[in-house]
Amino acid sequence: MYQKALIPAAGRGARLDRPNTPKPLVDVGGRPLILHVLEQLEAAGVDEAVVVLGFEAKKIARELTNHPDLSIQVTLVENPSWQHGLASSLLAAREHFDAPFLLSMADHFFDPALVERMAQVDLSDEQVACMLVDRDTSRIYDLDAAVKVNLDGERVLDASRSLENAHGVDAGLFACRPALFDALEATLADTEPADLTDAIARLAADGKVAARFVGERKWYDIDTPPALIRAEMDHRQKRRVEAVFSADIHDTDRETHEYTFVTGKPIETDVFVQRGFVRNPNTIKLIPDESASSPIYVFTDTRVNELYGDDFVGGLSDMGYDVRRIVMAEGEESKTLSNYTKLVEHVLGEGIDERSVLVSLGGGAVCNVCGFIASTLYRGIGLVHVPTTLMAQCDAAISHKQGVNGERGKNLVGAYYPPINIAVDVEVLATLEDWLIPDGLSEVVKHALGQDPDYLQFLLDYDGAIDDPDFLEAVVRKNIELKCELMAIDPKELREGMVLQYGHTVGHPIEYLSGYDLNHGQSVGIGMMVAARVSRLLGGCDEEIIELHRHVIEKYELPTRIPESIKVDDILAMMRFNKRYLTEGTRMALVDGPGTLWSVDDDYAIPVSDAVLREAIEASY
Ligand SMILES: NC(=O)c1ccc[n+]([C@@H]2O[C@H](COP(=O)([O-])OP(=O)(O)OC[C@H]3O[C@@H](n4cnc5c(N)ncnc54)[C@H](O)[C@@H]3O)[C@@H](O)[C@H]2O)c1
Ligand SMILES: [Zn+2]
Repeated sequence: MYQKALIPAAGRGARLDRPNTPKPLVDVGGRPLILHVLEQLEAAGVDEAVVVLGFEAKKIARELTNHPDLSIQVTLVENPSWQHGLASSLLAAREHFDAPFLLSMADHFFDPALVERMAQVDLSDEQVACMLVDRDTSRIYDLDAAVKVNLDGERVLDASRSLENAHGVDAGLFACRPALFDALEATLADTEPADLTDAIARLAADGKVAARFVGERKWYDIDTPPALIRAEMDHRQKRRVEAVFSADIHDTDRETHEYTFVTGKPIETDVFVQRGFVRNPNTIKLIPDESASSPIYVFTDTRVNELYGDDFVGGLSDMGYDVRRIVMAEGEESKTLSNYTKLVEHVLGEGIDERSVLVSLGGGAVCNVCGFIASTLYRGIGLVHVPTTLMAQCDAAISHKQGVNGERGKNLVGAYYPPINIAVDVEVLATLEDWLIPDGLSEVVKHALGQDPDYLQFLLDYDGAIDDPDFLEAVVRKNIELKCELMAIDPKELREGMVLQYGHTVGHPIEYLSGYDLNHGQSVGIGMMVAARVSRLLGGCDEEIIELHRHVIEKYELPTRIPESIKVDDILAMMRFNKRYLTEGTRMALVDGPGTLWSVDDDYAIPVSDAVLREAIEASY
């Protein structure tokens, strides 16, 4: 019905503060907005699109020239006086139109059905334009800046940014007659810069503007960071469902019987922090009474065993418990399926009962292996953690995540299984090798940056030694407090709990690609720097936040730059091995201020395109 379309892509669109990218070229689903619009117009039967360029004309022209996916003819018109406003840019294309045409904004993202809907509009003789209107103004992110309309049924009475109690919002899609250009010209003669809205208002006053409605379909004016993020989320969600549900499964005529069951009640984990406990384990009640006479196993590694094994195990024996000791090799080499199998068979051979308790005494590696064994022996027996590294005291042990590594990556096999008790003694940190202090502090900085502005301020203000026991006790306790909060509200880390992954999305690939030359904390330090830049590129935060990251990460003796030996392409290629990666692309925890995690409509997993990720990584060498 409409052969031609007009797309103004000349303006600057300053409000979406994505550096160096004109708005029509901002990506959704890995494609610039203007390409989506062209594609949808083509699908709606339009043969030719006239695109008016101004700001960054060359850049946009390059994107549109010879595009392999498009067969719609694209005619480029440059408007040197694009600063005079949208009316001026539309007029620049006037000579190309002598029949009714569609008019679409270049920086909007539409459900394709909406473009179809406008392509069906039959303008009556007296109508000059028909506007797509959204009557649900609650969905608009920046209502003040939006063009609002008053309606009488399907007729637009008035259009302006300043209408109060408006009936709806202009959704940026029109069907028009060439007479629109006369109204634009008249408007431009009165005011400059002039907007399309002024011309529409003029026509509406004469009863010449009709309305069609958005209804339940989605559309976004990509003028604010949340609008961009939400559009990306919806786009990914749609692709996800499209891929599978070709038919509506509820339409089947087969008789289906449905039942539901709910299991278990929540388990409470008590966390104790007490200095000196490891050498005197009779000062906290670690083993519940019901397990008092059952075999108790203490899992530890060679080094921790040498330092603390006799005191700890001896102390428990002296209390009357039947304690056995299992000593494994230090570090990651014990976090394997083969070690898991070996230890499980060993414990079963020595004997347990259903009230037995496994106690981990060691760093994160020991915690994780022991925890996974506890979660599977007899389908789950008692588990207690006694973490001895800063990393484990701040993070690994304060968790219900237990697991071992797979051949293809870390922590690929495991379970959510809560310990009964966790006992933390910061005195044992005194025997740690030096590098393990900043390593653990990375998780401290992570919680501060993503969860607690006061904590961040405390870290920025602190001027003592980073291995001072009082300081370490303070951060261990604060981290435990913050982590307990998250465990209660979001144990699967889908919302606020995403803070636990802050800096890890890019940190993990960097750790792996360095051949583990960079330890976990160092990699997370760099990963948090990259995350700050991603947020900046998406308009989530400003430059200051990047500097704040650099400051606090360096202060706690962690690196902020990716080593030259690690290549951008390799990092990007590794992203898909992340457990959080979905087919549709990367999602990250990001911050939008000092100590606050960014959420868009209560969603904390912010979708990030490869282009943005690449730019952020490239800036981090
Ligand atoms: N489940 C989770 O949520 C989670 C979170 C963070 C880390 N982790 C896991 O934790 C592991 C890393 O933990 P880690 O950093 O504690 O490493 P680790 O367990 O390998 O311990 C590091 C080294 O410190 C030694 N050590 C431990 N305590 C000591 C002490 N008090 N004095 C002297 N030496 C001591 C160990 O023998 C080892 O050589 C990784 O496998 C990681 O995946 C899990
Ligand atoms: Zn970590």
